[in-house]
Amino acid sequence: MISKGFIVNGATVYISSRSVNACDQIAKELNAKGPGKAISLPANLQQLDECKRIIDEIEKREGKKAGTQDDPARVINIGSVDVPALETYAYSASKAALHHLTNVLAGNLSQRNITFNTIAPGPFDTKMMAATLKTHSNGFKDIIPLGRIGNPEDIAGTCIYLCSRAGAYTNGANISVDGGYLCSKPKL
Ligand SMILES: NC(=O)c1ccc[n+]([C@@H]2O[C@H](COP(=O)([O-])OP(=O)(O)OC[C@H]3O[C@@H](n4cnc5c(N)ncnc54)[C@H](OP(=O)(O)O)[C@@H]3O)[C@@H](O)[C@H]2O)c1
Repeated sequence: MISKGFIVNGATVYISSRSVNACDQIAKELNAKGPGKAISLPANLQQLDECKRIIDEIEKREGKKAGTQDDPARVINIGSVDVPALETYAYSASKAALHHLTNVLAGNLSQRNITFNTIAPGPFDTKMMAATLKTHSNGFKDIIPLGRIGNPEDIAGTCIYLCSRAGAYTNGANISVDGGYLCSKPKL
């Protein structure tokens, strides 16, 4: 969803996951849309040597150290609103850690002309959410104040804002993109 938003707005996007086939296929589909360019760069980011390899690959092509004080490089971590609707304890702990880590990164590394922000999505229709939405689709619509799950444009637009001139001074923020899920009215 996010990659498509960047591609249709002309950006170059590196597509990465563990599956070579999935990366190649998505890059092909996105390049057919244009006008941006998608490049398949598979990696297993659980492994440190793979993280280093992907950095080297991107540096070779882009010169990563291109951020300036007025137009910094942008890191967007994807956390979650993760309201306690489901018993996903490890997921909740890892998302809270990511939100906190992002603030620490912003405080310590922004002097290198990089911003760090988190987006906390509500429910979106992805591979991860397929089973949950199959069972709880109506439940989400009842609880979320806007009465729907997120659309691709909702999440892509927020990422484009953070990476654009408009987002250059937003640093250490956690932006909920959840239709008001966090403010949902409790059932009495
Ligand atoms: N969808 C939602 O409603 C929702 C709500 C809140 C937060 N989020 C967050 O949004 C993010 C994206 O999730 P999604 O919903 O888009 O789920 P998804 O469709 O399952 O996507 C997760 C992606 O991560 C890749 N991946 C997993 N382990 C990897 C590894 N070790 N190295 C490299 N890539 C790896 C997977 O590809 P491979 O299996 O090919 O590696 C897959 O493409 C997650 O952090 C999720 O917690 C999603």
